[in-house]
Amino acid sequence: MQNDEILLDVRDLHVSYGAIAAIKGISLKVKKGEVVTILGANGAGKTTTLKTISGLLKSKEGSIIFDKNDITNTPAHDIVSLGMSHSPEGRRVFGTLSVEENLMMGAYTLKSHDKETLEWIYDILPRLKERQKQLAGTLSGGEQQMLAIGRAIMSKPKLLILDEPSLGLAPILIKSIFKAIKEIAQSGMTVLIVEQNAKAALKLANRGYVLEVGKITHEGTSEELLNSEAIQEAYLGKKH
Ligand SMILES: Nc1ncnc2c1ncn2[C@@H]1O[C@H](COP(=O)(O)OP(=O)(O)O)[C@@H](O)[C@H]1O
Ligand SMILES: [Mg+2]
Repeated sequence: MQNDEILLDVRDLHVSYGAIAAIKGISLKVKKGEVVTILGANGAGKTTTLKTISGLLKSKEGSIIFDKNDITNTPAHDIVSLGMSHSPEGRRVFGTLSVEENLMMGAYTLKSHDKETLEWIYDILPRLKERQKQLAGTLSGGEQQMLAIGRAIMSKPKLLILDEPSLGLAPILIKSIFKAIKEIAQSGMTVLIVEQNAKAALKLANRGYVLEVGKITHEGTSEELLNSEAIQEAYLGKKH
């Protein structure tokens, strides 16, 4: 599904919280059909980067081009309409709505309710189908994370952004979440994913960037990063 068309082009981005610079000039590209991962320790600026791309934070300098549109100063809701969907860190589901109602909320940019997409999501995330009438607030953490992903893909975005989908989950659930993301990517959807679980993320991704205190220090294909001694030591828990 991958081709050479650039879907997301982030150039020399700078983002600050008040006087504190969190992102200090990062550039990255995501091609159509690719899965790209951003790795980095806690506080490196991964969430800040994703939030700036999806318009939740504004950059001080730099530009963001998405699907040939300059979205550097575009409000978040207009970026959603252009086909970008951001599943934020921490599972933000509507606790008093059912699983199915939560999924339908994700389709609000669509004109009609898309039964086919709903069935596709239930196919990829069968646990959601079993629990379609259950209130989202009563789901386990892992199930809520599945729901957050399901909701993010309900609008069939061109770019799906995932911020730490496996955070705090039991290994068995991490496995099924990664399997679901793989199926989403295989459907042709472009994915930008941030993960603490570097090895799993690199196995899923085509390419990756490593962020350290607001700057990109390494980039390459997943294979290059998996084989890099520096990456192995810092992120994959291997010592040389
Ligand atoms: N709302 C905020 N106000 C001030 N500083 C923040 C805020 N959010 C994040 N930061 C700071 O920005 C840096 C990057 O944070 P973040 O993007 O959340 O990192 P990551 O997602 O890689 O853990 C950190 O030093 C963090 O303390
Ligand atoms: Mg984060």
